Amino acid sequence: SKGGYPFYMEKEIMEQPEVIAETIEPRIKDGIPDFAEDEIPDSLLKDCDRVCVVACGTAMHAGLVGKALLQSLVRIHIDVELASEFMYTDTIVDEKTLVIAISQSGETIDTLEALKYAKRNGAKTLSIVNVRGASIARESEYVIYTNAGPEIAVASTKAYTTQLAVLYLLTGRMAYVRGIYDAGRAREFARELLRVPQVVAQVLDRREEIHYIARGILNAKDVFMIGRGLDHSILLEGSLKLKEVSYIHSEAYASGELKHGTIALITEDTPVVAVVTQDKVQSKEFSNIREVQSRGAEVILLMKETYTLDKGTSWAGIFKLPAMRDEFMVMPASAALQLLAYYVSLDKGLDVDKPRNLAKVVTVE
Ligand code: F6R
Repeated sequence: SKGGYPFYMEKEIMEQPEVIAETIEPRIKDGIPDFAEDEIPDSLLKDCDRVCVVACGTAMHAGLVGKALLQSLVRIHIDVELASEFMYTDTIVDEKTLVIAISQSGETIDTLEALKYAKRNGAKTLSIVNVRGASIARESEYVIYTNAGPEIAVASTKAYTTQLAVLYLLTGRMAYVRGIYDAGRAREFARELLRVPQVVAQVLDRREEIHYIARGILNAKDVFMIGRGLDHSILLEGSLKLKEVSYIHSEAYASGELKHGTIALITEDTPVVAVVTQDKVQSKEFSNIREVQSRGAEVILLMKETYTLDKGTSWAGIFKLPAMRDEFMVMPASAALQLLAYYVSLDKGLDVDKPRNLAKVVTVE
């Protein structure tokens, strides 16, 4: 049942603090991320030269966050490939490559085929799957389950954030076993990760603020979502979410790339959603926001609560995200973006859980 919510999507968004905790907590031992119970040997994480994620849709977007995390914290080379393109672009994988397949259902045919290709080419394989015993889990050498529970709404929410939780754990463990983090830093990382459920809950408690802000895009034909770095990665997912449940055309853009063409499309009729959570790009991001505002765009701003705004700028809406260490801001910001898409769909009176033309499990190539 929907637990008193009008749609499964809302129920599943609201379940996130609990299922994220259930995904993280059993995998922290002595304060350090640990996959002993998943039977993942440290050698798997230590001996690879490269990581390659294969996935589709939302799961691929989770992979992009994983890429940013592993690249910056573990300093390992990592690619993220669309599973449907992987085999046809002669992707290079070998015995030194750890291929990670990410899939909620564990049955997506493109991801399964990509995994088989990886195995044929000698790669080590690990999958991050939600449905126990699914084909992708069975086909890979190692599996880590997300403890999201059944996801019924077609639009993925809690599966995505639990995939992210696993990617944080992997980042922490890899940094530790590869000697980049000592035990102290690994514990510090895990402590911040353990705060995620409570911080996400704070965003969910304030969902009516997001419901109010969502009115700013209700009647839009086109929406742009802009951000840099991790903010851009999560906006790709936020944009997909808005498209699939509200049928509004939306594009996520790396803010710095706008001026290379797309800014021509920004007018007073294209609301812009901007996410600003990363200290190192904060000031550049705000100048990109000023550029779209000067073209007349109304901007909905999701920003880390500690940032200060110039006086005199007007906003279509502001949501202040509870602060965490920068690399963890993905979690509260993603919850806010899910709610934004949800409320637009709800207020348009659409069938939120069953968007037209979409299936929950995609078993055709
Ligand atoms: C979007 C969505 C899809 C899936 C994609 C992969 O909300 O759910 O983009 O993420 O079809 O599905 P899984 O994760 O089952 O492999």
